Amino acid sequence: MAETILITGGAGFIGRYVSRALLDRGDRVIILDSLIEQVHGGKAEPDGLDPRAELIVGDVREDTVVRAALKGVDKVVHLAAEVGVGQSMYAIDRYVSVNDLGTAVLFQELIAKPVKRVVVASSMSIYGEGLYRTTDGELVEDAIRQPNGGAPWDPPDRQGRPMIPVPTPEWKRPTLASVYAITKHVQERLTLTLAPYYGMEGVALRLWNAYGPGQALSNPYTGVLAIFASRIQNGNRPIIFEDGKQRRDFVHVEDVAQAFLLALDRPQAAGQVYNIGSGVDRTVQEVADLLAAAMGRPDITPEIAGKARAGDIRHNIPDITKARTELGYEPRKDFAEGLRELAEWVAQQQAQDRVSEARRELEARGLVA
Ligand SMILES: NC(=O)c1ccc[n+]([C@@H]2O[C@H](COP(=O)([O-])OP(=O)(O)OC[C@H]3O[C@@H](n4cnc5c(N)ncnc54)[C@H](O)[C@@H]3O)[C@@H](O)[C@H]2O)c1
Repeated sequence: MAETILITGGAGFIGRYVSRALLDRGDRVIILDSLIEQVHGGKAEPDGLDPRAELIVGDVREDTVVRAALKGVDKVVHLAAEVGVGQSMYAIDRYVSVNDLGTAVLFQELIAKPVKRVVVASSMSIYGEGLYRTTDGELVEDAIRQPNGGAPWDPPDRQGRPMIPVPTPEWKRPTLASVYAITKHVQERLTLTLAPYYGMEGVALRLWNAYGPGQALSNPYTGVLAIFASRIQNGNRPIIFEDGKQRRDFVHVEDVAQAFLLALDRPQAAGQVYNIGSGVDRTVQEVADLLAAAMGRPDITPEIAGKARAGDIRHNIPDITKARTELGYEPRKDFAEGLRELAEWVAQQQAQDRVSEARRELEARGLVA
């Protein structure tokens, strides 16, 4: 049966894909989004928003706005957030305010007007370092990097030997290494703790690196593939922190949207957390090379900074078995095809490359070492 879904932050990258998928199957979509400058470049009309979605321009921290947005709503997808690990380390009040106070205000209003389910976007960043295995086969949940950054980049085991990164399951204890991670963890816990007390169901999706057409190209603080694409389009070399060998999972935004729909629908998702990725991990250098080739600029090789950024983690790759078995989630987008589509979209865009500016912000505060 068709439902009415409120998507906070729904005018953003992931929100637009989730909106379209819901509208295509006949649901009604209300979006509450303050259209922040860093993502929307000061535009009053967000690019690529499905015209069938009903947009309320407003801040998730304003109770009267949230109250109005919740009218007639069956379920909520909570995406509104400041997104960026590095930036969160100095824009502390902004990140804590939007992400945590925003979630608090949402739940404050939900007490009087509960919905069936709230699905919140959590993040792989809450794990900190992913799970590792020692050469003796022991699993290590609390791998620790050198405190002041610098090589060797990989966290060692207790004997100082290198370890092997393995897929991280949901049971790994969170290690909150950045302000962003702290705020995403609070969002997740507020949702899962409060929802059942008010007759609602909470679900948290821990997303890995989402990519695809529509990700803000001029936002230098988040979306590693969009940042690289913007550099390459402007004839600049992507800058990679550390040595480029850090491993991540890049998941296409259509697969992320699929995961949100399943998390909204599946009865067994109530009260659960799920890792959402593609199930295939890659080094950051490898994706920079593949993207440059897809954009027809294989000559642009990444610049390896050889420096670490505060709050960054070394390896983190997901175990997506739980989402597969409980939700029926199945990542469908082939990475090469995803990059081709991204390259085609980027070719039609004007991307302002603000990476140097962002790097100066970090360096000025001693957050790159
Ligand atoms: N993109 C990723 O790789 C990724 C990975 C892990 C988690 N997430 C989470 O998924 C969610 C969506 O991410 P995204 O990539 O679409 O980011 P995005 O920046 O494109 O979208 C976020 C949206 O939230 C809006 N917003 C910000 N502050 C607001 C406020 N105070 N009130 C109302 N709206 C506000 C912005 O205008 C923007 O449209 C976020 O919660 C993010 O933390 C994203």
